[in-house]
Amino acid sequence: MKKVIEMKGITKVFPGTIANDNVDFELLKGETHVLLGENGAGKTTLMNILYGLYQPEKGEIYVNENLAKITNPNDAIKLGIGMVHQHFMLVNNFTVAENIILGIEPKKGIKLDLKKAVKDVEAISEKYGFSIDPNAVIEDISVGQQQKVEILKALYRGAEILILDEPTAVLTPQEIEELANIIDNLKKEGKSVILITHKLKEVMKMSDRVTIIRRGKVTGTVQTKETNIDELAELMVGRKVNLVVEKDPCKIGKRVLHVENLSAIDQRKVEVIKDINFEVFGGEIFGIAGVDGNGQTELLEVLTGLRKPKEGKISVDEKDIYGKTPKEIIKAGVAHIPEDRHKRGLVLKYSLFENSILGMHKEKPFCKGIVLNYNNIKKHCDKLIEEFDVRTPNNAVNASALSGGNQQKLIAAREIYKDPELLIAAQPTRGIDVGAIEYIHKRLVGERDKGKAVLLVSLELDEILALSDRIAVMYDGKIVDIIDRKDADEQKLGILMAGGTLDENKEGVEK
Ligand SMILES: Nc1ncnc2c1ncn2[C@@H]1O[C@H](COP(=O)(O)OP(=O)(O)OP(=O)(O)O)[C@@H](O)[C@H]1O
Ligand SMILES: [Mg+2]
Repeated sequence: MKKVIEMKGITKVFPGTIANDNVDFELLKGETHVLLGENGAGKTTLMNILYGLYQPEKGEIYVNENLAKITNPNDAIKLGIGMVHQHFMLVNNFTVAENIILGIEPKKGIKLDLKKAVKDVEAISEKYGFSIDPNAVIEDISVGQQQKVEILKALYRGAEILILDEPTAVLTPQEIEELANIIDNLKKEGKSVILITHKLKEVMKMSDRVTIIRRGKVTGTVQTKETNIDELAELMVGRKVNLVVEKDPCKIGKRVLHVENLSAIDQRKVEVIKDINFEVFGGEIFGIAGVDGNGQTELLEVLTGLRKPKEGKISVDEKDIYGKTPKEIIKAGVAHIPEDRHKRGLVLKYSLFENSILGMHKEKPFCKGIVLNYNNIKKHCDKLIEEFDVRTPNNAVNASALSGGNQQKLIAAREIYKDPELLIAAQPTRGIDVGAIEYIHKRLVGERDKGKAVLLVSLELDEILALSDRIAVMYDGKIVDIIDRKDADEQKLGILMAGGTLDENKEGVEK
């Protein structure tokens, strides 16, 4: 088969890090090729080089067997290479069609021909099986839809080779199915796809080949049908990974979080949380499952003080925190791993050591009077880096220099380390490699075993099932059921998440 891309001897150095070390990579026409590797292994860097965002110190790139000079994304696009980034780059108040044609607008005379643009977008959507409204405004559509816009944008520019950097990290299982379908259709048209993902089930399902990168070096390429999940995990981490979480039965302690008749509204005054009641006890992990957009985000915002509730009661350790500010809630003993790491978790232009005490800079031992104790702060940061294996040259680099997964690891480390009465973990392992997931899961279970209360919100059913002692399911702003882990399985949760009830289903099965 024809090689559409060949990267030879690519080396890219950042201060203190060799991100890519003499990397060879090839992509065949019509294949889906996964790049697999730990957080910080160099996957995004390699793809940014292919897309012309970075220049390598050494190495050559061949496109369709011709030596290519790719000095910026325009060069890449001209060569038929398109890329969808780990963090999207859309204009929020523009429509889908406007975003897609941005920069290469079709013109009628000197006027922008938006009608033609909408038609073009509809035609491409039809061809590859996207269901999307070209006239919808970006800020009104789901992340999954936004992802499709990014892909359509690349196809509209004539991409024959599509790079997708962790496209499924923020998608619901159903959206992932749709994406798999789209990728299949692209392949049928002879297009080639490079996919970066940490989800090994997806790798098995969606790819033809896998290239594994470790600490900047390629360690091998395997045919997907000749490998399996355990082997892939071992190849990327360099040791056996225990994909099953081991934990003892939980020892329920005192009540920590108590939520009663809680309601909240959104910007448009629509009720998004509807009369919610639940308790979380010390010594348990309480999981909240649900399809994205059923009120989980708003519930978390209310619990952490980022959104004002409409009515109800909330207490932590029997202390009222209803409607309190984030600061007061933290003081009451709540720590929070937020779902959006860029919006809430880190200040990207601050150093790692500054980020490691975010929200704690007025506390001992980081502060004495009004003077910061940098020695203690740096020591604290080094402990987080070491224990959670944050891959970085040192504690002084900016958070923006960390790879996506390592940013997430630093946030998780900081919050777990606070050892709070209530730890709220929202998508705690989003974008994290299997080795690091194993560790973070262990630490969450560790908090539980210490008698702390853990509230876990995750879109990953696997994660909910692996960690939780009890599971609540949210649908349409309500908690529709709370079940014991031992009574739960993927199918039952699936029914509840889609708005069904378990009794109805029993009847359905008997019929
Ligand atoms: N702009 C930058 N400045 C300094 N160092 C960087 C920069 N971008 C990346 N690095 C470093 O290069 C290495 C590779 O990062 P890269 O983003 O390619 O990793 P990755 O494999 O995509 O990881 P992840 O799975 O976490 O996204 C990391 O050690 C990272 O800290
Ligand atoms: Mg990356």
